[in-house]
Amino acid sequence: MTNTHEDVVVTASSPGKIIIVGEHFVVHEAYAVAAAINKRVTVIASKDGTRKVRFVSQGRDYYFPGTLARRFFPAPSSVMNEIFERFGKCEEGMSIEIRSEIPRGSGLGSSAAVSVATAAAVTRIMGKKLSLEEISKIAMKGEAAIHGNPSGIDVETSLRGGVVLFSKSSGAKPIAFEKGIEILIAFSGKSRNTSALISSVALIRKKYPNTFAHLVESSSFLSLQAVDALCRGDLPYLGAIMNIAQPILDWIGVSNDKLDRMLEDARSGRVFGAKITGAGGGGSIIVLPRPGTAKEVIDRLEAESKYVFSTLIPQEGLKVEQ
Ligand code: PMV
Repeated sequence: MTNTHEDVVVTASSPGKIIIVGEHFVVHEAYAVAAAINKRVTVIASKDGTRKVRFVSQGRDYYFPGTLARRFFPAPSSVMNEIFERFGKCEEGMSIEIRSEIPRGSGLGSSAAVSVATAAAVTRIMGKKLSLEEISKIAMKGEAAIHGNPSGIDVETSLRGGVVLFSKSSGAKPIAFEKGIEILIAFSGKSRNTSALISSVALIRKKYPNTFAHLVESSSFLSLQAVDALCRGDLPYLGAIMNIAQPILDWIGVSNDKLDRMLEDARSGRVFGAKITGAGGGGSIIVLPRPGTAKEVIDRLEAESKYVFSTLIPQEGLKVEQ
């Protein structure tokens, strides 16, 4: 039976992420460890026969290509450009609806999740079944439109789910981890500019090349230790690693007063460790609470943050349904 326009619908969803250890240094070839979170982006693609490409987000319509679509949706617009360049235009037109549970600019991987889910939904509705590696390459165009020079860790984690050990040269390795590890996340409410932060860290590298090289090495060491702790479920040690990483992130200039106050609030409760996650300069912090203390720590964090939640690490990455 031939499908009509109405019944061709693809739904792709992909999780956000936290970086457990290794952000920024991963851009300079260190290992880093990231994990998926329980907030996802869903992209629903349908063929609508209008011969136009329509974006729908938060109940508003935008058309692609068009300056509005590119301005409001740099990540999915770049992904679409890449797809049309590779596979040709979709002459029939399509409608793409983006639904996100991840606040923009929160450092929780919203642009990567949008890019991955858009790449998967749009290629599938065009009849292409791509490998994870191919989807990753296309999604990186969206991530680069936002972050300038991304390492690729956000895209790989969103694609694969679970815990990922990543380096630019060796790519992503899925890591087996102890189930039931609860991590608290608090968004500072201040969105950050990852691209500018990556550039400011590059200046520090230029100013202190030897010291920076040692920090890159230490960051790799901490990442490998974190993998070991996650496998064994050794939360005190995982927390210690987070606490060691934080002052280094502070030294490279990516923390700020608000994030420091949030970390102080967290640490005044009973926690194993806490640090910023992602690019910093705003964005979010992650906290590893001691068993049975999550509620108390969340209450403390709510003094500084309006967006606090708890996540276990979901195994599921990209999910596509047709
Ligand atoms: O996506 P963000 O803003 O959480 O940052 C990702 C982590 C960085 O190491 C700063 C950049 C990257 O692409 O690895």
